[in-house]
Amino acid sequence: MGVTGTQVVRQFVTALVCGELDGGLELVEDGIVFSEAQSLPFGGDWTGKQGVRDLFAAVSRHYRVRMGPPEVLCGSDAGVVVRMHGTISGRASGAQLPLDCLDLYQVTRGLIRRVDVFYKDAAAVAALAGRPARRPGRPRRGRERLNSMSDQIEGAASGCTALRALGHDYDHYDPRFALDPHPAYRKLRDTCPVAHTGNYGGFYVLTKFADIAEVLHDAAVFSPWPADTPPTPGHNRALIPLEVDPPDHRRYRMIVDPIFRPKAIEHIAESVREYAMQLIDAMLDKREFDAIGFSFLHLARRPDLQDRLAAEPSLIPAAIEELLRYESIVHASRTVTEPRILGGTQLQPGDRVVVPLAAAHRDGAEFDRPDEILFDRKPGRAMVFGAGSHRCLGSYLARLQLRIAFEEILRRIPRFSLPPGAVLHAYGGQTRSLSTLPFRTWRDD
Ligand code: HEM
Repeated sequence: MGVTGTQVVRQFVTALVCGELDGGLELVEDGIVFSEAQSLPFGGDWTGKQGVRDLFAAVSRHYRVRMGPPEVLCGSDAGVVVRMHGTISGRASGAQLPLDCLDLYQVTRGLIRRVDVFYKDAAAVAALAGRPARRPGRPRRGRERLNSMSDQIEGAASGCTALRALGHDYDHYDPRFALDPHPAYRKLRDTCPVAHTGNYGGFYVLTKFADIAEVLHDAAVFSPWPADTPPTPGHNRALIPLEVDPPDHRRYRMIVDPIFRPKAIEHIAESVREYAMQLIDAMLDKREFDAIGFSFLHLARRPDLQDRLAAEPSLIPAAIEELLRYESIVHASRTVTEPRILGGTQLQPGDRVVVPLAAAHRDGAEFDRPDEILFDRKPGRAMVFGAGSHRCLGSYLARLQLRIAFEEILRRIPRFSLPPGAVLHAYGGQTRSLSTLPFRTWRDD
């Protein structure tokens, strides 16, 4: 077997950070193998941020995990190895085990990334997940137990749970949910707009525009540290400016804001266009490829909208805003710093809140016909780039890049579509994205 980039990283981090590890790790020629880990009912490449998302999504389909504070075993500038203790229970069986695992993190350019996770008693952990014993139409025993576990968790919180409102728990890392979260958000907004979930250490998820706007506009009470839910263990240096609280946040933004103002980025338009044209040449050569993001997925499904934009390119900026509203990808997270009642629910310091912009932007109380793409929609209070002091630094740059991409794609590939039976995959987490969009540069009609 050839040595892959992942394996090199693992070897490098382990050799550099720890020299030798005990606890069941075993060094082999082409990487580290923690033998039993292979018997877990999920696998794949867990390297990098996407890998962490995949891992959480895969794990949470089978298990419910509660972690205690992480214990750093050894570390250097290049990486750390963290021991995690807690409990892990199988979703299907309801059985529970003490959890003991080693998490391996790599440090690059000030970011800590999870490279791998190794369970001490992997065979027992794998056994927990087994026997789904699904009987259509009848509630599963495991599910009943899970409900009662979640009720105990709810004891600490006021209000309703996502589990009860949805019939399954809320998990923004679930790839199927990430592909189309809107039905679940609609249900939560209608029945449980400040919903508690026990997932990932417990947090609230908000689904009303007004509640989400209130959180984003109040950075003092709703701190953006840490920015991810669940917080990455061992992540102890704030990302600037996203995870910085006032008043320091303002100072950092004063330094970087001028660099991203419209006047300051105008001059890169030509190089962005040249690059876009090169990419489109490559697209035309291949004619069918995996590509780009949700905006193009929705356009590929709507030939009428493509025709309209091709005929009226002046509509492109409004179309971009509307497509970003229609499919918002950011799940921001905040930590409550003072007692606060939000949407009738009492929040306490330390509570975590997830604010999905996708939920805010489909709220019928704020937008007429929220589930339709309407390029003529009056610019409302949409928060596609966030709101308040942490509003996106790169919004003008993003708009510039998107406008040029739309102009060039619509000019050079006037019509595009999805192949019949196209299978889509998405990643969840802090930023949802399409991992595949089979896309072709023509239409049959
Ligand atoms: C369509 C593309 C983009 C979208 C939808 C988007 C969306 C967002 C959102 C919603 C936030 C607020 C997060 C929060 O409140 O927790 C944010 C923050 C941020 N974005 Fe973007 N963004 C985009 C592109 C970019 C680009 C191109 C840059 C590069 C400069 C960028 C840099 C940032 C930074 C630095 C922050 C943190 C700002 C702060 O905390 O003060 N973004 N973005």
